[in-house]
Amino acid sequence: MTANQSTAGNRTRTATPRRLLMCPPRHFDVTYSINPWMNPVKPVDGGLALRQWEGLRDLYRELGHTVLEIEPVPGLPDMVFAANGATVVDGKVFGARFRHVERTAEGPLYLEWFRRQGFDELYWPEHINEGEGDYLTVGRRLLAGTGFRTDQRSHFEAQEFFGLPVTGLRLVNPSYYHLDTALAVLSDDEVAYYPKAFTEGSQAVLRAMFPDAVLATDEDAAVFGLNMFSDGRHVLLPKAATGLAGQLAERGFEPVGVDLTELLRAGGSVKCCTLELRG
Ligand code: ARG
Repeated sequence: MTANQSTAGNRTRTATPRRLLMCPPRHFDVTYSINPWMNPVKPVDGGLALRQWEGLRDLYRELGHTVLEIEPVPGLPDMVFAANGATVVDGKVFGARFRHVERTAEGPLYLEWFRRQGFDELYWPEHINEGEGDYLTVGRRLLAGTGFRTDQRSHFEAQEFFGLPVTGLRLVNPSYYHLDTALAVLSDDEVAYYPKAFTEGSQAVLRAMFPDAVLATDEDAAVFGLNMFSDGRHVLLPKAATGLAGQLAERGFEPVGVDLTELLRAGGSVKCCTLELRG
């Protein structure tokens, strides 16, 4: 047993070091509303948002992960949600094309960052897709959300680009408008999700694919508990999601509560702030 492992039940949990891209919220604000969490009338505490974000970044580094940063751009307050900037698997970068005009400039900015970093397989998509907000990698396959942001035609486009199977899932509750607000990847073959965020058909697909999934309660979903990041052992999740934290601990994971309440005012938390650079 090494420092990176823990065991509960019959499963040993091993953390693997990740490369992550984040964007400091130096121009964060809520100036428009494109999801039910956003209320532009209530002032945002920019200093608090930045301190909370730095807490998450520092925690990733303490856990041994590499965090790269992209420079935030004035006038793009949602750019902090790096998960939406692209989908990266096997070093291949599938660009993001945003649904709302308020965020469309972010897609090319993120793609340009990848170009400058030396990624050479860059792809500008034909159909609307909001990066890892709606594309989650589970082992060697992808789960893909649709219903609010990502166009379902994008799913086939991503499947052809990555050469990996993509399973489409339809979201129905506007509060869970991205897949990463309703489903979290815990390991190469385990997920947690909130069933009511999906159509009956998509719930049946999830049950068939992941019969032992962790199911979130209404309370844990409502505090954005599913917007979490797992390194295979540690699971960073919103502090308020105490029920989920307990369920994860029972399965041998180490839940770590994170306070990102000021960013939640834009409808984002841990996972939204984190883009994983795979391969
Ligand atoms: N205000 C942003 C939006 O509505 C929040 C994005 C959250 N990101 C995520 N990966 N769920 O687009």
